[in-house]
Amino acid sequence: MPYKLINLSPQESGDLNDQFFAKAVIDGLSRSPKVLPSWLIFDDKGSDLFQKITELKDYQPAMSEFEIFHNHKARIAEVLSGQAVQIIDLGSGDARKTRVLLKYFLERGLDIHFIPIDISEGAVKNLLATLDSEFGEASLPATGIAGDYFEGLENIPHDSARKNFVCFLGSTLGNRTLPNAETFLARLHDTLNAGDWVMIGFDLMKNPKILYKAYNDPGGVFETFNLHLLDGLNQKLGANFDKSQFVQQGHYNWRSRAVESHIYSTRNQTVDFQALNRKFHFGLWESMQTEHSYKYTLPEIEALAAGNGFKIVEHLFDEKQHFVDSVWQVIK
Ligand SMILES: C[S@@+](CC[C@H](N)C(=O)[O-])C[C@H]1O[C@@H](n2cnc3c(N)ncnc32)[C@H](O)[C@@H]1O
Repeated sequence: MPYKLINLSPQESGDLNDQFFAKAVIDGLSRSPKVLPSWLIFDDKGSDLFQKITELKDYQPAMSEFEIFHNHKARIAEVLSGQAVQIIDLGSGDARKTRVLLKYFLERGLDIHFIPIDISEGAVKNLLATLDSEFGEASLPATGIAGDYFEGLENIPHDSARKNFVCFLGSTLGNRTLPNAETFLARLHDTLNAGDWVMIGFDLMKNPKILYKAYNDPGGVFETFNLHLLDGLNQKLGANFDKSQFVQQGHYNWRSRAVESHIYSTRNQTVDFQALNRKFHFGLWESMQTEHSYKYTLPEIEALAAGNGFKIVEHLFDEKQHFVDSVWQVIK
C-alpha cells in the first residue's frame, strides 16, 4: 500500500489499554444504574457498524453533514486558501463526508496533506485503500494514524510550514457530557498552534419525535451496533453475555438533553467475567446505558468555543438547521 500508516492501536500497545478497558467496564457495571462508555463499542467491527448507521435514511446527522459540505465547501476552501494545510480527521471512520471536501479542495488547487486518525486500525487501513483508488498519493498526500485521538495528534508528521485544520465530525463530540466536551476541547486547544482551525459537527436540539426516529431504525442497525459492545466484553474480558437475552432502545432524555441508548436485560441473570474474576448481576429489564448523544443549542456551542480559547469563524448549517458544522480558529 503506497500510503503510510502509523500504527499506535491498542493491539500494538498491549497491557495498558487492556487495563484501561477493564477499569472502564468495572466502574460502569458497579454503578447504579449501570452505564458503559460508547467508545467501548469501537473496534473494527464497531466502526464498520457505525458506517452502516450513517447510511440509514432517518439518521439525520450524517445526511445533514453531507448537505452542509455539498452546499458550503466553497466557503470552507476560502477559509483555508492561501496556505499549505494539514487536514486532520479525528475519528475519521471511512471519511465519506471528508472526502467530499478533499476532492473539492484538490480541484481548487489547495496544498493539502490529509491525516486521518482512528482507534480502529481496520477503518484506517480501509480508508487508505479507498484514498489510493480515489486519489493516489501523487494528487493527495496522506498519512493514516491508527490510535487514540490525542496519541494520534502527538504523532502527526511535523510540518511547521502547514497550518492544521482539525475536523471532528459526525456529532462525535456529542457522545461526551458537556463538562467532558470542555475538557476535550481544552486539551485540543493545548495541542494546536495559534491560527490553526477546527471544524466540529454538532447535532442541534430539535423535535424529540425526529430524534426518536433517527436512533431507532426498523432494521435494527442501532441495536446491532450497541449490542456489539457485549461482544467486546466477551472477547476482551472472558465474559459470557448471551446477546439474545438483551434488547436495545434509544430515548431522548430531557434532563440530560441527550439521546441515550439503553440495553435491557430480558431476564434475571448473572454474567461471569472470567478475566476479572468477577460476576455482575442483571435484574429483569434492568437497563445499562451505552450511548449518550447530546443535543446542542447555538449559545452552548458559542460558549464552548469562547471558554476554550477558540474564535468562531463561521457556523455552517443545513437547510433545516438541524445540524451545524462550526469552524473555529485557535487563539493563543
Ligand atoms: C461517531 S463515529 C464518526 C465517524 C466519522 N467521522 C463520521 O463522521 O461519520 C466515531 C469514530 O471515532 C472513532 N473513535 C472512537 N473513539 C476513538 C478514540 N478514542 N480515538 C480515535 N478514534 C476514535 C471510531 O472508530 C469511529 O470511527
